[in-house]
Amino acid sequence: MTHQPQAKYRKDYMAPEFTITDIDLIFDLYDEDSKITATSKVIKKGDSSTLTLDGEHMQLAGITINGVEWSAYEVTQTQLHIHDLPDEFELCIVTQVNPSTNTALEGLYKSGGAFCTQCEAEGFRRITYFLDRPDVLAKYTTTVIADKKENPFLLSNGNRIAEGELDNGRHWVKWSDPHPKPSYLFALVAGQFDVLRDQFTTKSGRTVDLEIYVDQGNLDRAPHAMTSLINAMKWDEERFGFEYDLDIYMIVAVDFFNMGAMENKGLNVFNSKYVLANDQTATDSDYLGIESVIGHEYFHNWTGNRITCRDWFQLSLKEGLTVFRDQEFSSDLGSRAVNRINNVRIIRGPQFAEDASPMSHPIRPEKVIEMNNFYTLTVYEKGSEVIRMIHTLLGEDGFQKGMKLYVERHDGTAATCDDFVAAMEEGSGVDLTQFRLWYSQSGTPQVTAQTQYDAEAKTFTLHLTQKTDATLDQPQKQALHIPMNVELYAPNGEVLPMVIDGQEVGNVLDFTQHQQSFVFENVEVEPILSLLREFSAPVKLEYQCKDEDLVFLMNQARNEFARWDAGQTLLAKYLRQNIQAWKTNTELSLPQSVLDAFKGILLSETLEPAFIAEMLTLPSQNEVAGWFKPVDVDAIAESLSFIKRSIAAELVDELTAIYHSLKQEQYTVEHAAIGQRSLRNVCLSYLAVTDEGESLVVAQYDTANNMTDTMAAMSAANQAQLACRETLMKDFSDKWSHDGLVMDKWFMLQGTNPAQNALTVIKETMSHPAFSLKNPNRTRSLVGAFFAQNPVNFHAVDGSGYQFASEILHTLNESNPQVASRLIDPLLKYRQYDEVRQGLIRAELEKLATLDNLAKDLYEKITKALEA
Ligand code: TRP
Ligand code: ZN
Repeated sequence: MTHQPQAKYRKDYMAPEFTITDIDLIFDLYDEDSKITATSKVIKKGDSSTLTLDGEHMQLAGITINGVEWSAYEVTQTQLHIHDLPDEFELCIVTQVNPSTNTALEGLYKSGGAFCTQCEAEGFRRITYFLDRPDVLAKYTTTVIADKKENPFLLSNGNRIAEGELDNGRHWVKWSDPHPKPSYLFALVAGQFDVLRDQFTTKSGRTVDLEIYVDQGNLDRAPHAMTSLINAMKWDEERFGFEYDLDIYMIVAVDFFNMGAMENKGLNVFNSKYVLANDQTATDSDYLGIESVIGHEYFHNWTGNRITCRDWFQLSLKEGLTVFRDQEFSSDLGSRAVNRINNVRIIRGPQFAEDASPMSHPIRPEKVIEMNNFYTLTVYEKGSEVIRMIHTLLGEDGFQKGMKLYVERHDGTAATCDDFVAAMEEGSGVDLTQFRLWYSQSGTPQVTAQTQYDAEAKTFTLHLTQKTDATLDQPQKQALHIPMNVELYAPNGEVLPMVIDGQEVGNVLDFTQHQQSFVFENVEVEPILSLLREFSAPVKLEYQCKDEDLVFLMNQARNEFARWDAGQTLLAKYLRQNIQAWKTNTELSLPQSVLDAFKGILLSETLEPAFIAEMLTLPSQNEVAGWFKPVDVDAIAESLSFIKRSIAAELVDELTAIYHSLKQEQYTVEHAAIGQRSLRNVCLSYLAVTDEGESLVVAQYDTANNMTDTMAAMSAANQAQLACRETLMKDFSDKWSHDGLVMDKWFMLQGTNPAQNALTVIKETMSHPAFSLKNPNRTRSLVGAFFAQNPVNFHAVDGSGYQFASEILHTLNESNPQVASRLIDPLLKYRQYDEVRQGLIRAELEKLATLDNLAKDLYEKITKALEA
């Protein structure tokens, strides 16, 4: 690296020396040379008469102050310093940028034929020089000028206030956003689209125009997004009392986008993956993903936009809270248990892995080099778990009281996580003093539980200990306030009242010390303990529980999550045993009692199909990898495959019967229908490894009338390496190669292909006409899936996977550092592998570290990984 990037620290926050209250923007759009004129009203707040603005990757064409040409300034690579300024003035800056060569997809760029912007976190500084920080809130007016034929739609935030034609085939539209906002919420889109329109009437009777902009020809894929938006608007009024605050809400779907979607005020920009769906192109999980992301971005209007973040260290203030809100939205509309299970899988798999990696950070980070590196599972998903714990401690009522106070105090301002916790605490009257540590402490607490029954005294004692291992960023750890949700059952299935010190207590225990014991009284028989119900805290739990007790809980716990979790614990025990057996060359085995327990679940007539499907789904290879150090990828794969084949062989008749009984003639996207397909396709994934596999999979592929069933057949063929795989893959690619989004599913199957020659095929696949490294979705589907979800091949001991990764990262470091930085994550965790692999990965990281033009994004992660 030529010069070392500088870190920023949370503790160094300082209010800005100047503020900008109003900004008028004029965009004169051309593919290669767009001109931006920014006129701001600036007010001095501090002592300095020098204003320092952020700006990079653009040309400065002129500055005036109060209409007078100004020459007292300097420009560096990243800043503009303007000197000798009065206390209040009008600043006009003209800049020029090239949207068509902007492959980083930050600032103003072209996605396909359309102009669009991405400003979060620090992209606005690639459009004009500005105080590009979230605590500077300004009112925006924006005029967009472009060629009318190529760009019939010219969009920006707020309301359309004027428009007109120019004589050279160009036209313009002027927008005004009445709500002051930080620069990261600015957006502009210009292009040619088809529009789906609808309306929503708010609870106070205002009519809002809803518009979804999609590429021409895609209108038939927009209705589900519209339905989801209307559901989100209604839900936010009912559950949180939040009403929309503009006359228009626009969503634009674009094909080139670094993340899922962006909550720009009144003008969301979405990755087309989270908008476009019909039954021929999208799977059930695509439909559910769209509902959740549409909800997420809509919910940001209050948690993010009306109340924004003081600085980027507070990101979880808006993201953790908004993820919590979108999870609640999905749970209220669909199955709460299934949603909870899938959220917990993400925490126990990839989030725990991140927290054990060199990138471990608290949900409110202390030190950042590149902000884009902190849009993480920790900030988002663990952040949401922290909000959920507050919800658990306060109850829905107390939580809503806290939210109300939070909005009363902070609406229209930039707030901090501390502000939020203070409002929740004061609104509800619940003390959160120790709880605040969840915001500043990184790493995953390890909780150990032991129990003791005293038949004479009729007491049942629960001993708990908690310990958080040191992380790279933080050597010392303290005891956290862990809400521990528990329940006691009598062997006959009865729920026992929980009495401590003569008082009946609720299910949630306050576990606040390093070691703590809870003595339950009047317990007549030795009870069965259900622990960490609802996954009431994001911790690793160790509790030696008898198989019979787990089977009891699988069948009798009155809460579905607890039943699923007992099943997972049972599977985990035998996965571990078989991993050990494989390593020591002993025979793999699974007791009949375990097989019988899963048979009982499969045949249950009271459980919902969607839930049975979750019960029968094994933990992912990555989640299992998180239990070991060093990780033996082959042993894990063998053990998972053995358990799968054992269950399939034992239950083949039942699986077959259920598979056939669940066939549906019509495709509908209702929750009951989704659940039935989900169970049917889980059955297929087991049957695929039996003698019937080949014929069932081919028949399903041939007769499927929807993408869910098509993909289930393909995935089963891929995972079980069936002979039909090649034929199905070819047929699918012939049919869909014109459609990148659909081909992503196919690329993903190539990326996760367990076959030994997978890497060779992947390299060939990179020249498939639908593939491009310039497109983040394509890159993630093929290459990203190989790095993160094909452990056996990626970690091939000849180092071929690592070498390939290094080449790809080298290329992406230049074209799109943000995408490069997400792809590199599996390499950062090299210390979890054996010494040979550690050496191979380290060598690749060291090579990357010497690149002359290493982007800040990769620099930050590689340095941490190498110093670890
Ligand atoms: N705020 C967006 C969300 O959570 C995240 C996002 C979208 C983003 N695009 C981005 C973050 C680009 C960083 C860079 O929904
Ligand atoms: Zn968000």
